[in-house]
Amino acid sequence: MRKLDDVNFGQDIRNLRAEDNVISIEESEKFMIEKKKKEMIEKFGELIKFVDNRYENSNIAKNEEQLGEFKKHNRQILELVIEEGIKRGISDDEIEILVASAVLHDLCKGDVAPEWAKGIDNFMVAYHGEAVAQEIESSEELQAIIREKLGDENFDENIKKLQTAFRSHMGPGVNADSLGKDENEIEDSKIGFMAKMRRGINAKLKERGMKELKHPLPEKGDDISEILLAADMFSLASPGGVQKVLKIRSLVPNFKKEDQELCSEYQNDGIELSLGEAALISAFNSGNSARDMFENKNDQKWIQKAIDQTESFKGFKYGVDDKNAELVNAQVVKEKMIAYEEAKKQREFRERIDEAA
Ligand SMILES: [Fe+2]
Ligand SMILES: [Fe+2]
Repeated sequence: MRKLDDVNFGQDIRNLRAEDNVISIEESEKFMIEKKKKEMIEKFGELIKFVDNRYENSNIAKNEEQLGEFKKHNRQILELVIEEGIKRGISDDEIEILVASAVLHDLCKGDVAPEWAKGIDNFMVAYHGEAVAQEIESSEELQAIIREKLGDENFDENIKKLQTAFRSHMGPGVNADSLGKDENEIEDSKIGFMAKMRRGINAKLKERGMKELKHPLPEKGDDISEILLAADMFSLASPGGVQKVLKIRSLVPNFKKEDQELCSEYQNDGIELSLGEAALISAFNSGNSARDMFENKNDQKWIQKAIDQTESFKGFKYGVDDKNAELVNAQVVKEKMIAYEEAKKQREFRERIDEAA
């Protein structure tokens, strides 16, 4: 009988099972995924180093914890895209492009904004996809690594595929097309975190007479862009991603102000909400809009899995340092959200009656 170690990647796992009766299809798939992960981490080691170096020489490195989070996020996305790519049956060549897109997708996230965008808050958060798409076109060093890893053949095409994936990984935002709406008709609070940020940035760019930013969505059939975006959104909606959102919201004054406003709204309808709980509601909303960006039901289901994990998590922390942080229970927050919707409905109903009287 053949041992598990002898299984060749790419071999038809169904045949293997029929011949040898060694392992179940699920186990084989898991094994293939783990093997591919190892193989890809080794193959793209130089590219991973390239990204790590960029972070280590940027503002991100001023905060050790943040630096760790950036690296951890990239590793998570790399593993997620391999898992998902194999499950969806995309070819080995496509998996390699997908892995390169995952390794590089946040390369420019910690960079300083270009001169023409100086002074615009959060600019690189909304621009880093476009920035890496441009860099891969102009950087000889980066191109040499890509050529070595993905081969000479189809080089230009591969670069284009990577650029498209980088440009379309900027979520969450509402998919206005699938709602049959014009994006401008959607109000700020409902448009999704990234799209709202883009709106603010575009208003400033317009004042300066500059071209507005665009965040395209993956085109139908473009597996690489779709899996990259879905993996990034899965990460955002999962407990680890939500914990990061909470931390950022406790640090940034503007977010804190938004969360305070939500607390007052809830209070007006008789529901006490702490700042941490308000921040968690905002993270919930991001997770939901991340899911709803996708028309593909498989993507939606995948992100829903992350949302389910988040909704049952009881130990989120809100605060600058973990020791003094407020503990936030997602289940309690979920209940408060339902109670608030109910209270609001009743109040609006009473107001309509009063008006009619
Ligand atoms: Fe990103
Ligand atoms: Fe990312």
